[in-house]
Amino acid sequence: MSAGAAASPCRSEDRARQAVVDTARQLEPRGVNTGRAGNVSLRWHRGGEEGLLITPSALAYAAMTIDDIAWLPLAAPAGEEDEAAQPLRFDGRRAPSSEWRLHRDLYAGRSDAAAIVHAHPSYASTLACLPRVHAQGIPPFHYMIALAGGDDIRCAPYATFGTRQLSQAACAALLGRRACLLAQHGMVALAGTLEGALELAVEVEWLARAYWQALQVGEPVLLDAAEMARVHARFARYRPDPSAA
Ligand code: 13P
Repeated sequence: MSAGAAASPCRSEDRARQAVVDTARQLEPRGVNTGRAGNVSLRWHRGGEEGLLITPSALAYAAMTIDDIAWLPLAAPAGEEDEAAQPLRFDGRRAPSSEWRLHRDLYAGRSDAAAIVHAHPSYASTLACLPRVHAQGIPPFHYMIALAGGDDIRCAPYATFGTRQLSQAACAALLGRRACLLAQHGMVALAGTLEGALELAVEVEWLARAYWQALQVGEPVLLDAAEMARVHARFARYRPDPSAA
């Protein structure tokens, strides 16, 4: 689903909203979330204004309909409070996700992001509580680490959920990457499509589980930079946009 639409903008936006709801509802069955945690967004322009559609805050996914999805502009208005719980301007009957700033800042800074999944997967969230993962992220213990865009999956330092500090930490951890962990919190994945962001979240959770399993029985061997360079070169042909569906 691409951003914005020229013809039938309302019907088109309804489809986009439905795709956001459908993706959010898949988080738990696909094994990357529990309960009401997490949030999903899609870059979505209205007329000439850049913005995003995002799941509402603290609503059970089973109860969510397209009318619960909020839209907010990408531009940060002058006078916006640093720790405002809600954006100064949004369109929706419910408040947008408490992580609206994280989603908004990523779209503002990342032209390759058209969809974002934030979730609390079991293994990724467990690893994100360990000092070794705070320091090194998930290192290149397996070649599929390349899916996240680099030679590791970084872990953003802890900051309170919904804050500018958390958004800044995640944006930094995602430099040159499509996914990162959030310390004592969870994981973020971005892609060109909702399907791609969900698929990447599932793959990162598989990697987190494999790394956790390896740590139970020994010290994993790491691939060196030269080998990871070969992997990235192969991925460029094998899966040109590995996070897209
Ligand atoms: P929301 O329900 O406000 O999206 O918050 C869930 C969450 O995971 C916060 O990090």
